[in-house]
Amino acid sequence: MPALCEQHVARRFDPASRPVPRRTIRAMTTHDTASDVDLAAFIAGLPKCELHVHLEGTLSPSLKLALANRNGISIAETTVAEVEATYQFDSLTSFLAVYYPAMNVLVTVDDFRDLAYAYLTKAASQGVRHVEMFFDPQAHTGRGVSFHTVISGYRRAIVEARAQLGISAELIMCFLRDLSAEFAMATLMESLHYRDWIIGVGLDSDERGNPPSKFAAVFARARAEGYLLTMHCDIDQIGSIEHIRQVIEEIGVDRIDHGTNIVENPALVEVVKQRGIGLTCCPVSNSFVTSDMKADEIVQLLRHGVKVTINSDDPAYFGGYVTENYSSLATFARLSASEVLLLARNSFNASWLPARARDNYLTELDDYAAQHGVR
Ligand code: ADE
Ligand code: ZN
Repeated sequence: MPALCEQHVARRFDPASRPVPRRTIRAMTTHDTASDVDLAAFIAGLPKCELHVHLEGTLSPSLKLALANRNGISIAETTVAEVEATYQFDSLTSFLAVYYPAMNVLVTVDDFRDLAYAYLTKAASQGVRHVEMFFDPQAHTGRGVSFHTVISGYRRAIVEARAQLGISAELIMCFLRDLSAEFAMATLMESLHYRDWIIGVGLDSDERGNPPSKFAAVFARARAEGYLLTMHCDIDQIGSIEHIRQVIEEIGVDRIDHGTNIVENPALVEVVKQRGIGLTCCPVSNSFVTSDMKADEIVQLLRHGVKVTINSDDPAYFGGYVTENYSSLATFARLSASEVLLLARNSFNASWLPARARDNYLTELDDYAAQHGVR
């Protein structure tokens, strides 16, 4: 196993360590042809889905400054460098302590629209065809911004991006697990006014002492309302395996966000494999909130046939959008082009796209791979 420090890739303030060397990597599996594949170029143009991105985690330093200015909100920082200097975190808890206060600049429908549209523009430029995006309504309603304001802005961005960028997007509403189950249930009820704009529900924020079972009734009601279900099982949490067991056996999720600690329990690995439950992994994010990007675990699960996908989580904070996440993992773990292709295929197969749209994208992906001599 490589030294842990090698997995500290894409550190936000050290461009020299950015893990996207544009080098030619010899395709390494028997499926690859004899030709060399420029893996960086292959990844850059790869049609893919993003299934784990927090819209509030796409708030770039420059947009934060612009929104503070537009809304007349006084913040401590005046330059991008000063905002970046606040990015001091080495755990989920310390990350969240930076993440939530930054949201104070998001106030109007236009703010939420601009945030989501900027992300969708970036995603489309990286070959993302479809994205299922988390949003945290309670982080806004809790400070006096209405649910309607938040979701109207996000919805406008989705509609405009579909028409102008050709990218499709859905919203997944997350409950903040460090708040009460009652608040989550009230938020679920409020969301029903916008039922057609939300594809599923998730659970995020601080996992310490906040197991999935705390929200069993909320998720049962969400399921009854027709929402699809996913939950964060963050990396190396106290009780990680028990939480993963709960999301599978008690909640009955359709997907798991992160969840790579499952490698510690082969029986649970078999269950997710048999049920085709997707895992939305975020290697660059992992390298910030834990000691490494968990490449060994991600690749082990991928090679075992689990529907592993690669995503960016909070790209404005961790400095890597989806392409950089693929590149970091591929470079560090020396993935073959066929394995990179499998990750992209998994992203469509783990998505909540209607079958016909999914199959069309898979055909596009196969054509793209064939053009590059990869299968
Ligand atoms: N909210 C934003 N990013 C998160 C993450 N990686 N885990 C839990 N909650 C989050
Ligand atoms: Zn996340």
